[in-house]
Amino acid sequence: FNPSLSEQSLQGKTVVITAGPTREAIDPVRYISNHSSGKMGFALASAAKGLGATVKIISGPVNLTTPSGCERFDVSSALDMHQRSLELGATCDIFIACAAVADYRVAEVASHKIKKTDNNDALQINLLKNPDIVADVAKLTPKPFVLGFAAETQDLEHYARDKMQRKGLDMIAANDVSIPGQGFNSSDNALQVYWPNGQSVLSLNDKQRLAQQLMDLVVQQIDK
Ligand code: CTP
Ligand code: CA
Repeated sequence: FNPSLSEQSLQGKTVVITAGPTREAIDPVRYISNHSSGKMGFALASAAKGLGATVKIISGPVNLTTPSGCERFDVSSALDMHQRSLELGATCDIFIACAAVADYRVAEVASHKIKKTDNNDALQINLLKNPDIVADVAKLTPKPFVLGFAAETQDLEHYARDKMQRKGLDMIAANDVSIPGQGFNSSDNALQVYWPNGQSVLSLNDKQRLAQQLMDLVVQQIDK
């Protein structure tokens, strides 16, 4: 009997998960976003629920059904997600940053629809860096166990470990987004998971199964 695989292993724990993309408004009808589907975050929510946790999903705009028994907080922009994350992160045991947060937002959102003009073939939009949500949650006291993700196209371990350290994370799950058919907007994924003194490879699988395997790794680390 392996207690880390029991339905009770996260009983009494609260897990907060960010999921999906964010939308950064340009004007009332346009935005900047990315291809994140939110599937991995929602699969993690379902897996954490299956281990007995109280689960809260902070979700960007996605087309997914909330896993049963999970509480969902819808947000749109990175600033909205940041605010909700600090609020809910302050009272959770485990924080999982699975969202594909837009790194930049539009500096000045136009209050009316931007019109194209005859005398301008080019349009400039100034961008401002968004706050790093997971890094700010990792600075909270008391600090929850924090799992982050890293989307990379090269040198996976090097960049992932660097991100883990810079952001104050306890664990990081890296995926190679240069491989077609896994990760972003796909049903399958493969992950290289790193923590300060260890690592594990979760090979290509559907996101539901992968989420269960990743939650088992989290349980093993918090039980240490
Ligand atoms: N993340 C976050 N807030 C941001 C940007 C990223 O919480 N403003 C989180 C993501 O949810 C993920 C981790 O940070 O868990 C890494 O995201 P990633 O985009 O891979 O890293 P960045 O730090 O944004 O660096 P870059 O995109 O330049 O590789
Ligand atoms: Ca980024």
